Amino acid sequence: MAPDWEDRFGPEGLIPLGAALERLSAAPRRALDLGTGTGKAARVVARFFPETEVVGVDLAPAMVEQAKRLLPSELAGRVRFEVADGSALPFEDGAFDLVVLQNMIPFFEELARVTAPGGTAVFASSRGSETPIYVPPETLRERLAPLGFGDFQELSGGTGTAFLAVRKTPG
Ligand SMILES: C[S@@+](CC[C@H](N)C(=O)[O-])C[C@H]1O[C@@H](n2cnc3c(N)ncnc32)[C@H](O)[C@@H]1O
Repeated sequence: MAPDWEDRFGPEGLIPLGAALERLSAAPRRALDLGTGTGKAARVVARFFPETEVVGVDLAPAMVEQAKRLLPSELAGRVRFEVADGSALPFEDGAFDLVVLQNMIPFFEELARVTAPGGTAVFASSRGSETPIYVPPETLRERLAPLGFGDFQELSGGTGTAFLAVRKTPG
């Protein structure tokens, strides 16, 4: 699906992600886009936060190739794409202050592990509950709370929705 994926949805599907980024209290130092596909969400994050280092990962090498190809040169210095499995990520605990999933299956334990204390996870859906991969907010709350997340926020915009969760700092 990689050659045609980029045109699956337009910019209106990325509005909820942008709105979620506006709600962050500070710019993240490092951000991860899980299941990046052709890199759309990674590019949104990099443009929104001009100092942030962004990593996009996907299980499919063909998606990662497309993401690399579509990355504009002005972002090339701080955005990179890698093949990796969202259920077993090759990153240290707490490596990212922001973890984004746009239309992506959440592997909850693993995304919690790589989110820094005080960091934020954003779950965005380009077509809200009509998105083929959609996890309802109540499920997100249920699964994230035991993993130390709170300060949940829900929003909608454009054609989609987003959900924010902050990983609490210990103590
Ligand atoms: C519905 S697409 C979303 C792509 C992109 N985030 C977007 O919104 O355009 C889901 C993506 O997750 C990737 N994926 C599926 N399972 C994965 C896994 N275990 N680890 C990492 N990526 C995975 C697929 O290859 C696909 O690119």
